[in-house]
Amino acid sequence: MELFTDKTIDKTRQGEAFSSEENNQHHFSRKFFIESYGCAMNFSDSEIIASILHSKGFGSTKIEEEADLIFLNTCSIREKAELTVRKRLTEFKKLKKKRPGLLVGVLGCMAERLKGKLLEEEKLVDIVVGPDAYRTLPNLIDEADSGTKAVNVLLSREETYADISPIRLNSNGVSAFVSIMRGCNNMCSFCVVPFTRGRERSRDLHSIVNECKELYNQGYKEVTLLGQNVDSYNWVDPNNGSEADFATLLENVAQISPSLRIRFSTSHPKDITDNVLFTMRKYDNICKYIHLPVQSGSTRVLQLMNRTYTREWYLAKVKRIKEIMPECAISSDIIAGFCTEEEKDHQDTLDIMRQSAYEFSYMFIYSERPGTLAAKSYNDDVDLETKKRRLAEIIEMQNKLSLESNIKDIGKTCEVLIEGNSKRSDAHWVGRNSQNKVVIFEKEPSKQFKKGDYAIVEITEYTQATLFGKVIR
Ligand code: 5AD
Ligand code: SF4
Repeated sequence: MELFTDKTIDKTRQGEAFSSEENNQHHFSRKFFIESYGCAMNFSDSEIIASILHSKGFGSTKIEEEADLIFLNTCSIREKAELTVRKRLTEFKKLKKKRPGLLVGVLGCMAERLKGKLLEEEKLVDIVVGPDAYRTLPNLIDEADSGTKAVNVLLSREETYADISPIRLNSNGVSAFVSIMRGCNNMCSFCVVPFTRGRERSRDLHSIVNECKELYNQGYKEVTLLGQNVDSYNWVDPNNGSEADFATLLENVAQISPSLRIRFSTSHPKDITDNVLFTMRKYDNICKYIHLPVQSGSTRVLQLMNRTYTREWYLAKVKRIKEIMPECAISSDIIAGFCTEEEKDHQDTLDIMRQSAYEFSYMFIYSERPGTLAAKSYNDDVDLETKKRRLAEIIEMQNKLSLESNIKDIGKTCEVLIEGNSKRSDAHWVGRNSQNKVVIFEKEPSKQFKKGDYAIVEITEYTQATLFGKVIR
């Protein structure tokens, strides 16, 4: 089980197909259907892909039966993610029989990892495109139209799609993702991302700020700056050689407007600087929430994972965050049952969770990924039963911590950005506070709000996953 509250890997969105609101079907001769899996970066990439396809005359649709092109934007992070996609692919067999011209494309990390092999293994796939090759999609579609299977999985050292204005797919019109960098250089030994997304590169600062400004002008109230490791953002201006780091970028985006909220994800504990923390403190509109994956609480395991920090170092970082911003919420990613993990390592993980008092966590069983250092050099020697039991204990710990954190919010007031009607009832609004906690409150006739407004809410009740409150103003 994963908690749903963070937006990095929103399980509720997995496999969702999106279509753009501005889609005017009359202009488009052919329609594409795109379904995204995995992290927020993939959902953001799908918006870039939609933009590339729109400019070549393809319109988006949410209905797979009416599509001429079906794309799955895939994830390779765990074996299960790939199995889900394989299963989904088999469901298009029938559609292909009914519509002979229909093309099926696999995009993203699985395309990159498996390359041409995917075409042999999944006969119905016509197009395979890796994360750095989306600009070539229109050509690849032409190739596939003429009956040749088309593959482009070239990785790039430069591609950031900086000049492409993403088409917002199925957005709530309030919050949007903005990609600030691509790739990852960290080589955590368990992780396939450096192989599927290539080397790290930062996007032009001005193009990021402009995209955020445009979003704000269109009525958006929240941007989440996305990267595999945002704290190593480093952009060198080709005109004058000056460098911008993540703190500089944050400051530039924060200055667009005090009523535009800024979030970011993901932070690597080794790279987040005091400068970033001070910038967060300086601007009220930078949300007080950091996703700071620990992965394990055992220094020995962390070393095997190549995380480059010790348990003590991580805890010192958490302490520093709380010193600078006592109200800052912290969340984590945790892997249960990594190679050689013993009971005492697992206890260290539970203990570091307790000491860090995470508001949320994403918790996973270790899944060996071909090609990674761990797959090549270590034994996946923790049996599945033990992995499952440890994961259950980790989840239980997190549930307890989330509840404890929410209890402390009773009686506090917070600013909530309204995202829409609560799922349970139209008589309630739902939104998030700065700490990224979901807050639900009753609509009151005397206080008229709309989606995208900020409300000041006093917290009166809680569950482990949600806060409930009463609007003050
Ligand atoms: N097995 C399990 N979890 C993994 N993650 C990355 N690779 C693996 C793997 N092989 C988790 C890490 C990372 C998150 C995005 O996914 O916790 O932070
Ligand atoms: Fe994977 Fe580590 Fe890079 Fe995150 S920082 S994407 S876990 S290699």
